[in-house]
Amino acid sequence: MTEKTIQSQLQAACETVRAQTAIIPQVAFVLGSGLGGLADWVEHAQAIPYRNLEGFPTTSAQGHQGELVLGYLAGVPVVMMRGRAHLYEGHSVAKATFPIRLMRQLGAETLIVSNASGGINPRFESGQVVLMDSHIDLLFRPQGPKITTNGPATLPYGQVGRRGDVYDESLRRLAVRVASKLGYPLAQGTYLATLGPNYETRAEYRFFRMIGADMVGMSTVPEVLVAVEEGLRVLGFSVVTNVAKPDSTPNAVSKTDHAEVLDWANVAQQRLLPLVRQILSAISGHPD
Ligand code: HPA
Repeated sequence: MTEKTIQSQLQAACETVRAQTAIIPQVAFVLGSGLGGLADWVEHAQAIPYRNLEGFPTTSAQGHQGELVLGYLAGVPVVMMRGRAHLYEGHSVAKATFPIRLMRQLGAETLIVSNASGGINPRFESGQVVLMDSHIDLLFRPQGPKITTNGPATLPYGQVGRRGDVYDESLRRLAVRVASKLGYPLAQGTYLATLGPNYETRAEYRFFRMIGADMVGMSTVPEVLVAVEEGLRVLGFSVVTNVAKPDSTPNAVSKTDHAEVLDWANVAQQRLLPLVRQILSAISGHPD
């Protein structure tokens, strides 16, 4: 996709949204595992199927619907991606991250993302919510000319990944504070993004631990890099749905499967939804 077609698709998609709602969102969401239910809490919700939005990827992964939801949550105007595109579905980085650029264009200043992950840090437990404080990008690939709305450059995302502050520090502090008020400590960790769609072998889990990852998943990093490049503040939550124990005896650990991942994501959602709602009211300054 060239920069020119991106720009015209962005404009067309923006017009479609504006024709349906006057809401100017302040906070954008990618509702991955653990946050899917948040869309049900949105007031005055307007849902627009991805297929009606020019430039949008179609999503096929189980448990991921494809619609953009605009409305209000805790008094804050929001836009939510209900369903994300994964690179393992065959989408280019440009396609998979197009909705982030749209949400920015619509007015969003902050992005909150979530994902499911395998816990590699042995202290983590299934169902635990972990705040992303850094990432390891094993999804990076050359994409030809940089796709951007922010002027000329030569790399797919600019160089945002070289900065230390991809995951906004003041938002992370706020999340930790709110979680402790809700009665649980919020661990932080490094998320490693891999293409998938296979779960890892024992050797791969071991390797990822060795290079500094606390959890591994198949999404989020491209969206986050584009968001930072577009000037959004980013907060990321990872829901640990299985814990890798690569050195345990063969029958002590079950194989990771998608049903298990969805079950634990639902458990974690009970914690993550109230947390995110209270973070939103803190951002807006309104008590919820
Ligand atoms: N590996 C990669 N992605 C995942 C995992 C995992 O173990 N669990 C949930 N998403």
